[in-house]
Amino acid sequence: MSEKILEIKDERLSFFTPAGEVKALNGVSFSMNQGDVLGIVGESGSGKSVTAYSIMGLTAYPGRLVGGTVWFNGHQIDKMTEKEFRKIRGNEVSIIFQDPMTSLNPVYTIGNQIVEVILLHTKKTKQEAWARARELLELVGINEPDRRLKQYPHELSGGMRQRVMIAIALACEPKLLIADEPTTALDVTIQAQILELMNDLRHKLGMSIIMITHDLGVVAQMCEKIAVMYAGHIVEYGTTDEIFYNPQHEYTKGLINSIPKLNAEEKERLVPIEGQPVDLLNPPAGCPFAPRCKSCMKVCLNKMPPRTELSDTHYTYCWLRQKEEFEKGGKA
Ligand SMILES: Nc1ncnc2c1ncn2[C@@H]1O[C@H](COP(=O)(O)OP(=O)(O)OP(=O)(O)O)[C@@H](O)[C@H]1O
Ligand SMILES: [Mg+2]
Repeated sequence: MSEKILEIKDERLSFFTPAGEVKALNGVSFSMNQGDVLGIVGESGSGKSVTAYSIMGLTAYPGRLVGGTVWFNGHQIDKMTEKEFRKIRGNEVSIIFQDPMTSLNPVYTIGNQIVEVILLHTKKTKQEAWARARELLELVGINEPDRRLKQYPHELSGGMRQRVMIAIALACEPKLLIADEPTTALDVTIQAQILELMNDLRHKLGMSIIMITHDLGVVAQMCEKIAVMYAGHIVEYGTTDEIFYNPQHEYTKGLINSIPKLNAEEKERLVPIEGQPVDLLNPPAGCPFAPRCKSCMKVCLNKMPPRTELSDTHYTYCWLRQKEEFEKGGKA
């Protein structure tokens, strides 16, 4: 069995803002083994980035963990100080952000930026670090690495800059790579190339990846497991097949129905989920999706549903599934 690299249990995280407590994560639990590729999907504001950033200690003031435990690679993250985080960030866990232009420093060359990360986290000499930087550019498919190392970010195309970001993220061979919407700022062809590159690197390097995206097509292509988030909850979790072919939460079904269908009639091409996302300052008492759910029952509005296990790898939080268990004479 492969080694467990991440275990999040009942994570609760809030932002204490002047307007009140924004309850961004409301009991998130999942785990990952070394080599797993997990997709996190969900609407804007559902807590995808906050979940991932909390593993790196990047949800600083006014954000605070208010409950639960997070273990990553032998570290108890929820007890770590900023000083301790600095040792693991960019080293054991790295992140690729959406927009490579804002994450690269415009006044330093590509080479200097990669070398800086290598020198910070390894015992390599300057000369060794430059050799490694060159190697990394080759690894991410950048031609003429010697010339590129001397260039500034603005001299590179968007796709090339994202490759550089990936090279920086991989500089210290992290155990876990977090990719937060890594391709949304790129055009479709470049998007496909970057995803292919990530897939390729993942097989070469055996690292675990958390892929955050709005795009269900991307998760279908890249991920073996999917966590569907809504209002700071994982409402459904399963293998990619389970989520696509046997979705059990009404929100997951809605997401899948909202994928544009190429061959469908115009009017049935896209079925958006109606209603407004939850106000995290005043989250509802029951299932967060209940106010938008077409199959909502009375209990859904009053009480958060417990977890229903559908297989060893598939679970959801939905009263309808509990009702089915009950009718079957199951454990509910
Ligand atoms: N610094 C902050 N201060 C206050 N609230 C915050 C802060 N950062 C995040 N939040 C809130 O936490 C919630 C979850 O945010 P998060 O960024 O994780 O969403 P997301 O699922 O990544 O959305 P998107 O798809 O738009 O990136 C949101 O309601 C957001 O407004
Ligand atoms: Mg986000």
